[in-house]
Amino acid sequence: MKIWAHRGCSQMYPENTLLSFEKAAALSGLEGIELDIQLTKDGEMVVIHDERVDRTTDGCGFVRNFTLEEIKKLSIYAGGNETQKIPTIEEVLDLLDDRLRAGMKLNIELKNSSYPYPGMEEKIVELVHKRGFEKVVVYSTFYAKSLEKLKGLDPEAELGMLDGKVSDCLYKLQGGCGAKVMHPYWQGIDLPAEELREYTVRAWFSGHLYPEKPTGTKLDLHALEVKGITDVFLNEPERYL
Ligand code: G3P
Ligand code: CA
Repeated sequence: MKIWAHRGCSQMYPENTLLSFEKAAALSGLEGIELDIQLTKDGEMVVIHDERVDRTTDGCGFVRNFTLEEIKKLSIYAGGNETQKIPTIEEVLDLLDDRLRAGMKLNIELKNSSYPYPGMEEKIVELVHKRGFEKVVVYSTFYAKSLEKLKGLDPEAELGMLDGKVSDCLYKLQGGCGAKVMHPYWQGIDLPAEELREYTVRAWFSGHLYPEKPTGTKLDLHALEVKGITDVFLNEPERYL
C-alpha cells in the first residue's frame, strides 16, 4: 500500500500549510503529498481546501474575493502562540523542491468543481513545467471536463479522476476524460477487485470533520488492498510509516 499525506500531516498540524507539508516531507517511504488549490481575485494560486476561508482561518468570505495581499493577512491557528499563513503553490514547490527532485510525488487537486476558476488549468500546468516537476505531479479534480482540458495542455500529465464511487471514476475514464488513474472515496469501492487489478486506485477518506480514524487507532490497510485499493491519502501518514 502506498501512503500519501492528505493536505500534509493534517491530523496533527493545520491542513494545507507549509508546516503540515514540512512534516510530511520529513517522512521516509511516503509516496507523495496531496494538496488543494483555489484562485484569488487577482488570479494567484493558493493552497486551501474550501472555497471559503472561514473554516481554516480567522477570516471570512470566498477565496476568489480576496487578492493575494489580502489573503496573506489571514492567520491559521497552529497551536499555542503559533500561526501559519495560506501558502501559494509556488511557496509549497519551493519548500518541497529537494523531495520532488528526489522523486516524491505531489497530487495537486484543482478545486474547480463548485466554482470553475477560468484559466486555472493553464496556470498550474505552466508553473509545473516552468519548475520541471511534470514527472512527479499528479493532477486531480472531481470535474472531468477540467481533466480533459489538462490533458490537452499536457498530453503526458498523470491525471486522477476523483469521484465517490470507483465505478463512476471508471465510467469517466472510459469516457475519455484523459485520466488513467482513479481517486475514489474509500467506501465507494463498488466493483470487484478483479476489475480493478490493472488500475492504480488511490482512495481518499473523509475530510477533517470526519477523519479516517481518531488518533490512536489504525486502518486495516491489508483489508483495503484486498478490495483493489493501491494507495491511500491519509491525514496522519506518520502513524503508518
Ligand atoms: O484527493 C483526495 C481528497 O483530497 C478529495 O477530497 O475533500 O479532501 O479534497 P477532499
Ligand atoms: Ca483534496
